[in-house]
Amino acid sequence: MRNLIIRQVNSLSRRAYSAYLGSEIENAKPFSEMPTISFLKMVKESIPGGKYYKKSIKEVLQAFNEEFGEAVRIPAMLGNPEVVMSYNSEYFERILRAEGNWPVRTGLDSLEYYRDTKRPEIYKDLGSLFVSHGEKWSSMRSIANPILMQPKTIKKYTTQVDDIAKEFIEVMRKIRNDKSEMPGDFSNYINTWSLESVTAVGLERRLNLFDENTHDENAKKLIKGIRDFFEMTAEYDGKASVWKYYQTKGFKELLNVYDTLTDVILHYIDQAIKEMNESSSSSDAEDSVLRKLLRADKRVAVIVVSDLMLAGVDTTASAVLNTLYCLAKNPEKQEILRQELINILPEKNSKLTTENNKNMPYLRAVIKEAMRLYPVVSGNVRQTTKEIVVSEYRIPANTHVALQFYIDLLNEKYYPDPMKFLPERWLRDQSDGDVKAGVANPFSFLPFGFGVRSCIGKRIAELELETLVVNVIRNFKVEWHYPEMKIKSTFVNIPDSEMRFKVIDV
Ligand code: HEM
Repeated sequence: MRNLIIRQVNSLSRRAYSAYLGSEIENAKPFSEMPTISFLKMVKESIPGGKYYKKSIKEVLQAFNEEFGEAVRIPAMLGNPEVVMSYNSEYFERILRAEGNWPVRTGLDSLEYYRDTKRPEIYKDLGSLFVSHGEKWSSMRSIANPILMQPKTIKKYTTQVDDIAKEFIEVMRKIRNDKSEMPGDFSNYINTWSLESVTAVGLERRLNLFDENTHDENAKKLIKGIRDFFEMTAEYDGKASVWKYYQTKGFKELLNVYDTLTDVILHYIDQAIKEMNESSSSSDAEDSVLRKLLRADKRVAVIVVSDLMLAGVDTTASAVLNTLYCLAKNPEKQEILRQELINILPEKNSKLTTENNKNMPYLRAVIKEAMRLYPVVSGNVRQTTKEIVVSEYRIPANTHVALQFYIDLLNEKYYPDPMKFLPERWLRDQSDGDVKAGVANPFSFLPFGFGVRSCIGKRIAELELETLVVNVIRNFKVEWHYPEMKIKSTFVNIPDSEMRFKVIDV
């Protein structure tokens, strides 16, 4: 009943909505009455023998929800601000609409610290997309938006991204064993594909990572650095850590990882500048992402490209693996997709173009449904700029609220048969009997975030992800003959099983 009222309220006109919120605020319970985890309990449960000890971020968040309900306060500790965990997506719209012009999303303080203090010659006065706030973030985003969010600029990479996907298909043919299965470390191969694709866009360069004879030490450092970044920030930023008071050996290693990544990206950018100066360029090349960034400033290019690498490699890799897993487990859906693709690409090696990739509704529905069942990012954070009511409690302005999406993504109320992989729920033209998507609450599903701070790499991610899935399914029947895939949750949810897909030529 309460959720029904909130839904009705969310659909009111702006004026009526403000009036309702005014009275709702007056009637709400004070913030001090919201369930709160005490500092002592947090410490007790985080040491050996405690409930949160050695648990992943997601497991700890689930434990909070089970014990305290749909909203709970986590106290400020070890230099981190207080955060409200919100588990009911009915409130997400109002939390996100209270984000203001310069939304604050905390979470990666270690990177912010590194950039502010360790390499001032690059980072000092410039903001980062990923971790800065306020005016510094806004200035950088204003430079990057017209470059990265413009469909025209990203579409230009279609052929190149398709070529990389086609090369990867040959890699898959080569690495499958005599049972036609991918090796246990297939996730690493997908990561390599993801890095190869994102550098083709961001650094205007092929790293040739599929070539065993390539001994590019910098490329190896890049792959390792990005992986270490995810593992280590889950410890130092995702959980309570003392680094703001005392820098442990492990934390210093993380700073070294950041340094290595900065140096490698600087190296590639210098190389790209040299090559650009040496060669005459076409007007198409002048329009490239890197050239546009360099026209702003070399340091801007270093920062934005670093952000693209850190945010774009593991996320896209995870989305591909999850999508292939869903298709392998649901062969009849895989067949529907293949039929759609055969119509568009009559030959297995037909090229994807900006024209023929427009009409693939089932592919898009498949990817969306895989992201619902296996969200790559299962939460988001915003600092509120005004007083709002969440789960019957009055939350003051300037509070950090963490939106936990993953619970309602499996909620029967929004997604009938929630555990089933049903791409049809996302199709505009549905047949009788198709299950409808969660149109009742679009804020329950925001895989690329929301508003002015949403994922700036969305277009690149979609191009890469769609292109690889198209090529794999057009070439292979993909099967899964192992127990359920396990997920490891750092800041990104990453498959934690050996991804031994069986791939049979079609
Ligand atoms: C399937 C793949 C991906 C998913 C699910 C994803 C998801 C997200 C989400 C949820 C956010 C936070 C948005 C918010 O706070 O509202 C984000 C931010 C960001 N993403 Fe992605 N992302 C993906 C791929 C990429 C790629 C390929 C790139 C770059 C090439 C990228 C670059 C970024 C950057 C730089 C930010 C920070 C933007 C800002 O705060 O201004 N992402 N992404």
